[in-house]
Amino acid sequence: MLRTHTCDQLRPEHEGQTVTLAGWVHRRRDHGGLIFIDLRDRYGLTQIVFDPAVNAEALEQAGALRNEYVIQVTGRVRPRPAGQENSNLSTGGIEVEGQRLKILNTAKTPPFDINKETTVDEGLRLRYRYLDLRRQRMKRNIMLRHNVVRYIRNFLGEEGFVEIETPILFKTTPEGARDYLVPSRVYPGKFYALPQSPQQLKQLLMVAGYDRYFQIARCFRDEDQRGDRQPEFTQLDMEMSFVDRDDVMELIERLMIGIVENNTERQILYKPFPRLSYREAMARFGRDNPDIRFGMELVEVNALVANSGFKVFSETVASGGLVKGMNVKGQAHYSRKQLDELADFVKEFGAKGLAWLAIDSPLEGGAKEGVRSSFAKFLSTEETVAIVKQLQGEPGDLLLFVADQPAIANESLGRLRVELGQRLGLFDPNVLAFCWVIDFPFLVWNEEEKRWDPSHHLFTAPMDEDIPLLETDPSQARGKQYDLVLNGYEIAGGSIRIHQRDLQEKVFGLIGLEIEEAKRQFGHMVEAFEYGTPPHGGIAPGIDRIVMLLAGEPNIREVIAFPKSQSAADLMANAPTEAHPQQLRDLHIKLDLE
Ligand code: AMO
Ligand code: AMP
Repeated sequence: MLRTHTCDQLRPEHEGQTVTLAGWVHRRRDHGGLIFIDLRDRYGLTQIVFDPAVNAEALEQAGALRNEYVIQVTGRVRPRPAGQENSNLSTGGIEVEGQRLKILNTAKTPPFDINKETTVDEGLRLRYRYLDLRRQRMKRNIMLRHNVVRYIRNFLGEEGFVEIETPILFKTTPEGARDYLVPSRVYPGKFYALPQSPQQLKQLLMVAGYDRYFQIARCFRDEDQRGDRQPEFTQLDMEMSFVDRDDVMELIERLMIGIVENNTERQILYKPFPRLSYREAMARFGRDNPDIRFGMELVEVNALVANSGFKVFSETVASGGLVKGMNVKGQAHYSRKQLDELADFVKEFGAKGLAWLAIDSPLEGGAKEGVRSSFAKFLSTEETVAIVKQLQGEPGDLLLFVADQPAIANESLGRLRVELGQRLGLFDPNVLAFCWVIDFPFLVWNEEEKRWDPSHHLFTAPMDEDIPLLETDPSQARGKQYDLVLNGYEIAGGSIRIHQRDLQEKVFGLIGLEIEEAKRQFGHMVEAFEYGTPPHGGIAPGIDRIVMLLAGEPNIREVIAFPKSQSAADLMANAPTEAHPQQLRDLHIKLDLE
């Protein structure tokens, strides 16, 4: 070994020992005849002092050192002089005397500081990711990710799960995104699809009898990029036989609590994790991934404004829309400019406007005297009082309303709630609030294609008691789906699956998938299901999102060693790139770049 210790190991009790360390020059300071080097490796920092009293030649050599040079240093451990200890550093009680110095490699000046936690343009960080990964923040995230995955493997191993790898070159596995295709050289004109998840394969493993499977699985989805989405990402993919919904949820809940409590200092706000129906989540939070760290819930006021003189409200109710509001406590002082800015915010999500009502004084008697509002002049006193009461408005409060079709009213106000919750500091950013969302609609209507789409995926089972609804009123049927949500992010999704062929065929029919087409795409599934398929179900927590939230990072790129940029490019390797013409010929591909 080129070293006897790492840069995080030496303590005052090593005093007098001669050690050899190797690492990168983190920082160099010259002090009247002495040179101090902070030597860095993956584990930490150790101070090296080059002192003419120890070795004048080594001191001379140290004069040539620059940041990020790779060096090997041998010397004696000595306590730092009294008053010079650094309590922020695990090795802050000691320093190593530089007796012998070997420069193992030099380094160009890095394009950004590695020894400072400064903000650096992300494009530059991604281009030089190997340097970015040397920085403390990245190291912390990568180590957290490693620890979380290791915890998962141990936990599931103890629970009798078997880790099985499944192919990357496969066939379409739809999860709602576009496929990444890989052309086949051997079969001209044919393509593999990279799995959007190992969904079918894990179900086939259940048919095969491996009743507890898991995999740390890479998934590929060609979809719009966002902070919490990458074209390739990692799931803890798992599946179990002979279970129902509660069994899967109970296991995942124990796993999540274990991950948090064994790998972070964070507090979990609610244990056991609250369960909300999809309907309740939409009603109270406007979203199926609610952030329940704080209140300020949405309140529907349709009945109170249905007959009001404010046409925006009454016409919305008449056309089947929603009028919803929320009470922003204590913010009646917002200026016109601030209110306009909030209106612009909701407009980004399709809302046509943001109606507001500020309560200055108690609404006894002449109600309207006490309020300022963009719409109260169109309401009767009774209507105004009723709305204020419904939203539990008190003097000082600001009530905000959106009237629109349900999807837009919920989405725009739901987003505004999260935005204001953040701006107003309504929650502790360090706490973790998990919740389950269940009882999703089984199908969602696809207006463009005039057909039903599965709300989760093709293989999710409907609730037993709702199966008759598939014939009579499919919109009301609920699926055996469960999503786990953390601080407003969907971190896992799963379901109990269909395991009978006739039900699977009925679902193919409902979503307008001709049985012939279904067989072409999923014939292997349909066939396998005839050979004794056990009842089964599973789930897939997204590792990137979980680690992002545990690390307190704003996007998943920060917890992935080599992520793609926002526009799905690898800025370091410069991918994607053109293929060589001969490669294209081998693959029987002609480009048409019109
Ligand atoms: P689903 O599509 O809900 O379910 O995905 C499960 C979890 O994977 C994560 N995730 C993503 N993370 C980063 N980037 C993406 N583009 C991305 N897409 C999804 C999320 C999500 O909750 N086969 C089913 C699971 C099952 O039914 O067992 C599936 O993939 O955290
Ligand atoms: P107007 O009558 O267009 O001047 O709008 C009066 C108030 O209602 C303004 O505060 C608008 O922002 C707001 N508003 C307009 N349309 C909507 C809507 N669909 N939902 C909520 N508020 C709206």
